[in-house]
Amino acid sequence: MKVISTIRELRAALGPHRLLGRTIGFVPTMGYLHEGHLTLARHARRDTDIVVASIFVNPLQFGPGEDYEAYPRDVDRDRAMLESVGTDYLFSPPVREMYPTRPDTYVDVPHLGSMLEGAVRPDHFRGVATVVTKLFNIVQPTRAYFGEKDYQQVMVIRRMVSDLSMPVEIVPVPTVRDEDGVALSSRNVYLTPEERRAAVRLNRALALARSLVDEGIASPAALERRLRDYICEEPLAGIDLVAIRDADTLEDPGDAFPDRILVLLFVRFGKARLLDQVVIENRKAEG
Ligand code: PAJ
Repeated sequence: MKVISTIRELRAALGPHRLLGRTIGFVPTMGYLHEGHLTLARHARRDTDIVVASIFVNPLQFGPGEDYEAYPRDVDRDRAMLESVGTDYLFSPPVREMYPTRPDTYVDVPHLGSMLEGAVRPDHFRGVATVVTKLFNIVQPTRAYFGEKDYQQVMVIRRMVSDLSMPVEIVPVPTVRDEDGVALSSRNVYLTPEERRAAVRLNRALALARSLVDEGIASPAALERRLRDYICEEPLAGIDLVAIRDADTLEDPGDAFPDRILVLLFVRFGKARLLDQVVIENRKAEG
């Protein structure tokens, strides 16, 4: 695996592959990798000729007072992990390479990007869309891999790619979980052992959502109430968001369940804000 830190060098390395018609699979990350990230890289390895991963903790997507400075970093460990799954190139630029000056151009997806997590974190998705556009311009991938754990992020990126006719295929990958069901996240390192134990409640709340839908719970509002009550029983959990949405549009479904129901949880445990989601097929809608 070749580790590259400048845009110019990466373009020089990838140019010949492109000329030879090789497909390029791209896995953008902020590092401090875990099995979730590696699963994305394995998918890319299976589907494409050349695998490029990036590690860049993108200051544009962190709000004031968020964890940009504290975000965990361990490039040596990340490097070994990416190498072990057959990554060809690791792009890990310093901030001054990506943003020599404060950018004056942004990519904004204001409707999808301001709801849900975007309402809790203003400008977050603008920062994500801008850096992903920049990375796509640098890498020019055939396919790019994103985790469904960050469901809204996948929706925002898909919309951006479609609206701007970007020549890349977005491949969503299911959430990878620990044995106890907790979604893997770089931010799990912020959890104390007690908070880590408490965090299982997120995935259990999603399982509860599934069974309540199967049992025919009356409405999205009733489901949301039951989930809030269930999460609140855990004293270490602080709810930022419990949302029941149409999984295809992220819109509020009103009184009736849509065909594909997105349940999205954004919950604080101590210093960590954890995100989890599930998409439930509404069997009643099929009948
Ligand atoms: P980061 O949080 O490092 O995540 C990188 C990719 O890994 C994202 O597509 C994310 O959805 C995926 N991922 C994280 N945890 C996962 C899990 N448990 N299972 C499956 N996939 C998982 O998301 C970002 O970085 C940034 O916003 C980025 C897209 C790199 C732009 O800066």
